[in-house]
Amino acid sequence: MSSLDIVEAERLEASNLFYREPALYDSVQADSDSATVCQALIDQHFPAARTLLDFGCGTGRDLELLAQRFDCAGVDLQPRLAHYARRTHPELDIRVGDMRTVRLGHTADVLTCLGNSLAYVHGNQDVRATFETFAAHAHRDTLLVLCSPVAPIESPSPQQARVETRLGTATVTIAYEWDLRTQINTMRRHWVFDSGEEACDTIRRRILGPRELELYAIHAGFDVVAIIDESGGGGLIGPGAYTVARYQG
Ligand SMILES: C[S@@+](CC[C@H](N)C(=O)[O-])C[C@H]1O[C@@H](n2cnc3c(N)ncnc32)[C@H](O)[C@@H]1O
Repeated sequence: MSSLDIVEAERLEASNLFYREPALYDSVQADSDSATVCQALIDQHFPAARTLLDFGCGTGRDLELLAQRFDCAGVDLQPRLAHYARRTHPELDIRVGDMRTVRLGHTADVLTCLGNSLAYVHGNQDVRATFETFAAHAHRDTLLVLCSPVAPIESPSPQQARVETRLGTATVTIAYEWDLRTQINTMRRHWVFDSGEEACDTIRRRILGPRELELYAIHAGFDVVAIIDESGGGGLIGPGAYTVARYQG
């Protein structure tokens, strides 16, 4: 990794409690269905797929399930998460790399970028570079499956929720900001654990609307074949969506 990548990885790690405590992330996400939804989309659009590359794989929680069906590898910017993923899933091939620049030297039938990982790439040039990375790992008909925010979350006042975690139950207060000029949706969380411990984190996600996703995809040689609401409901209402695109070369 370049020294800039290291700075970026350290900045990300400091920003999010889950990145500082990867096991906490896994425990809170335990009932996520993103790998199941992703697999259903692959079955629908490329049932013969055999190989899969996951960009922004985090703790490897989706790869764990996808690896039961595909020959998988994952890439993440944060060495701490990659180390955790290798330790908890020794069977997985996990690399440290930046999805804007990494080149693994081979292609895969399916490329995934799940759990909003794309939203951590903020600038237009960086988004474009990330789609070029996808193209660099694609062959004709490679399927790209993204799960990303397509609309901001806006809330007039902070919301509170009780969350079960491996560190015990916490009350988390969440506030959102939306900057229309940069299309960054900022989420600020204040965690108060029943033990009395407190933590704060700030997560900044770039929102790419459906038409923007189409444009970045087309520029990189992918045709969007579906954009489906994350909720699984009929219309596209956001905030999250799955985008499925096919590489035309
Ligand atoms: C919200 S997590 C999602 C992780 C995983 N996909 C999941 O669903 O559990 C976002 C991930 O994107 C990674 N990430 C952010 N920017 C990245 C970049 N430029 N290259 C590679 N990974 C990146 C972060 O390190 C983090 O693991």
